[in-house]
Amino acid sequence: MEQTLSIIKPDAVKKGVIGKIIDRFESNGLRIAAMKKISLSLQDAQQFYAIHRERPFFNDLVQFMISGPVVVMVLEGEGAVAKNRALMGATNPKEAEKGTIRADFADSIDANAVHGSDSLENARIEIDFFFAKREIC
Ligand code: CMP
Repeated sequence: MEQTLSIIKPDAVKKGVIGKIIDRFESNGLRIAAMKKISLSLQDAQQFYAIHRERPFFNDLVQFMISGPVVVMVLEGEGAVAKNRALMGATNPKEAEKGTIRADFADSIDANAVHGSDSLENARIEIDFFFAKREIC
């Protein structure tokens, strides 16, 4: 069993598609092991995306992530990291395969509906960033 972190980003929360996105996970064998709706502070967003600090899109990304509430989740299942990434589709929704979350709900590379951990190692780090042990069950 793997665990991975998923974030439903401000664009998708504003559109009212939280339930539709969660349905994609639950219908495809990913269990919600933890979930909360939160507003990220500037410091939260900068720290979470610190790996992208030097990238030209860093400031836009951080500003976007604090533009409204997000839903953070721990998804659990067999091969959860890869399964979540397959369900999300490509980072740029224009390149995302039909039927993926980003193809169906995202508007741009910044407002791309969801984030998902890219490796098991990063999943552990990202889960620990948002959740205490007792919140995961
Ligand atoms: P996410 O999976 O949350 O990880 C970093 C985010 O940066 C990514 O989704 C995109 O929303 C955003 N981003 C903006 N421009 C780019 C880019 N050129 N390459 C990768 N990510 C980008």
